[in-house]
Amino acid sequence: MVKRTLIIIPTYNERESLPVQVDAVREVAPEVDILIADDNSPDGTGEWADARAAEDSRVHVLHRPGKQGLGAAYLAGFAWGLERDYEILVEMDADGSHRAEDLPAVLAAPGSWDLAIGSRWVPGGSVVNWPKHRLFLSTNANRYVRIMLGVKVKDATAGFRAYTADVLRALDLDQVESQGYCFQIDMAWRVAKAGGAIAEVPITFVEREQGVSKMSGDIIREALVKTTVWGIKERTARVRRAFSRNGAESAEATRAKQL
Ligand code: GDD
Ligand code: MN
Repeated sequence: MVKRTLIIIPTYNERESLPVQVDAVREVAPEVDILIADDNSPDGTGEWADARAAEDSRVHVLHRPGKQGLGAAYLAGFAWGLERDYEILVEMDADGSHRAEDLPAVLAAPGSWDLAIGSRWVPGGSVVNWPKHRLFLSTNANRYVRIMLGVKVKDATAGFRAYTADVLRALDLDQVESQGYCFQIDMAWRVAKAGGAIAEVPITFVEREQGVSKMSGDIIREALVKTTVWGIKERTARVRRAFSRNGAESAEATRAKQL
């Protein structure tokens, strides 16, 4: 029995790319549903999505009032999908960077996983046509995440991933504040902390041909600041735990001596 699967595609000004991506996904995986989470794109992406949804019962649209970031769009998409009892919820970009042909491999990730990541940085994974500065940013962001948070994932910033509904239900999604692409780091870390199993499957990430990236200085800053703050908090909590454990042990030792 195929699991009920929802592909969530966040969009902001993707009028050129989205139709191609929706067609590609529908062709590769005709049994999955698609939810387009559009932030009131001025270029008419939302209107196109409505027209497509009117003729295809597997395509749905969530209209949001304005550009509120990738994180907020996904959280709204997760809530929509969980309410409707989808079993697997997938994140995918609209711009063709996440190739529909890699989708079956991500969904069929080996082992029993709570989060399956379409990874650029495991053997077999790759990036096509990315400028040097993006390669540098992604490599170093992932390195920093591993050092600061100890997340043992090679591509923690990846935006192509599948979650089980169970793991999303187990996380406190109301607490997620990340707005930009650090949402991906935030979610990977939350799954890891909750003891969820994370699988990584190699994918080929192809830079978009139409439209522009929404990556910005603010998005980079948010990721850097948040990862640093989380890392420091985690370390402080760990030291505190170690101290209170030692405290408890020495109190026990004193008691033992008195007896
Ligand atoms: N609804 C909504 N609101 N969608 C958004 C917003 C927003 O504020 N910002 C971006 N998006 C959508 C875009 O329209 C696109 O479908 C997807 O999110 C990814 O945005 P891009 O701007 O194409 O991202 P990128 O190619 O620079 O970054 C990719 O790599 C990052 C780093 O590895 C993405 O896959 C990111 O998810 C990933 O973190
Ligand atoms: Mn992109």
